[in-house]
Amino acid sequence: MRSLRTGLSLAALFTGAVMLFAAPAAHAADTPLRDLAAAKGKVIGTAVTGSKLTGTYGDIAGSQFSSLTPGNAMKWETVEPTQGSFNWSEADQIVAFAQAHNQQVRGHTLVWHSQNPSWLTNGTWTSAQLSSLLQNHISTEVGRYKGEITAWDVVNEPFNEDGSYRSTLWYNGLGANYIAQALTWAHAADPAAKLYINDYNVEGVNAKSTALYNLVKSLKAAGVPIDGVGIQAHLVLGQVPATLQQNIQRFADLGVDVAITELDVRMALPADSTKLAQQKADFKSVVAACAAVTRCVNVTVWGFTDADSWVPGTFPGYGAATPYDENYAPKPAYYGIAEALGGTQSTTGCAATYSVTSQWNTGFTGQVTIACSGTALSSWRASWTYGAGQQLTQAWNATCTQSGTAVTCTNATYNGTVPDGGSVSFGFNASWTGSNPVPVVTLG
Ligand code: XIL
Repeated sequence: MRSLRTGLSLAALFTGAVMLFAAPAAHAADTPLRDLAAAKGKVIGTAVTGSKLTGTYGDIAGSQFSSLTPGNAMKWETVEPTQGSFNWSEADQIVAFAQAHNQQVRGHTLVWHSQNPSWLTNGTWTSAQLSSLLQNHISTEVGRYKGEITAWDVVNEPFNEDGSYRSTLWYNGLGANYIAQALTWAHAADPAAKLYINDYNVEGVNAKSTALYNLVKSLKAAGVPIDGVGIQAHLVLGQVPATLQQNIQRFADLGVDVAITELDVRMALPADSTKLAQQKADFKSVVAACAAVTRCVNVTVWGFTDADSWVPGTFPGYGAATPYDENYAPKPAYYGIAEALGGTQSTTGCAATYSVTSQWNTGFTGQVTIACSGTALSSWRASWTYGAGQQLTQAWNATCTQSGTAVTCTNATYNGTVPDGGSVSFGFNASWTGSNPVPVVTLG
């Protein structure tokens, strides 16, 4: 969420986005989530896609979060698509971005049954070969980023729902000991990195989380380097387990850190204000549960915008699972996170976000998103002044006129309503020469 102050910064001129608060009152948390989290001794993260880390996406990722997890860039199929030939470009890019923004990186993930390269899954290997393939993979990847990764999800999703070990390439070929070996190899490659086992459906106290608990306990007893437990938290609306905090606490009591590693809360589409309010409560209770346990160190959302979420592609009919909508407007869920971290949403209102979505030598395409929280609009007018000679040529989803430097856009017949917790966007093309500064948008 961009405040007026930062909205007029140099960064905004480069990224082409600015938000101004409309009457009746200012809207929300000026304090970025990462600052709220830091004040509580916590880290707040997001999964990211490297190619998107520019413009508004990069601006939010860099300013709101203190930790990044590559969504796919560090998985085996990405880094070694052909045996012996490596592609680190996206992973390197994300690590560099994180360093430039003073962020931690959670490495994800080294040993998993999914998203492995086909040369590996289709091969026929003896267990000695499999063991050395895994050791090489871990040594190579962890070694490459030695000193740059705060925590590694070394082993991902090792359990079935009933707490038995999942039948995978690794378990079937190497036995349950693959987990201890993977942790040991990772530790050898980067002794400073915190090493995690990560899984889903382990939020509450249940058979699966108890199996994970027993594993961590036995690894600790055996002196295997295990530093943390990752609780993915891919949740369904209204279904935060009541035992979440108790479960986090029992892991902490084993002497390991805990991270919420992949938080999202999916809902049946379409979203509406009731669902978005429930989602706010869900995000808030997850973050509050982590905030309440000293050793819960990090909450990471699995994508911060609905435009970059795995949910619609994986759970047909479901979506809207992240804290920002597809136009980068913060949703009620965003304020749920902020409130759980001690932020106060003092006022409500509607805000307009102006962004340049693409620009070429003579022209550009822009977008304005009007978002409301705690109130709603039944019609709207957005106006701004083009101070550098920009000239509107075309608009859609609004009626726009320009007179001299003054631009006024009013809603179309079909999009005057901006619901509480919702947003409306319109687009336009314009010409520019020399410079194309971002104007201040007034709603009224
Ligand atoms: C997901 C990614 O977000 C998708 O882009 C990809 O197609 C599939 O994997 N548990 C995990 C993550 O540990 O790595 C998964 O990420 C989501 C479930």
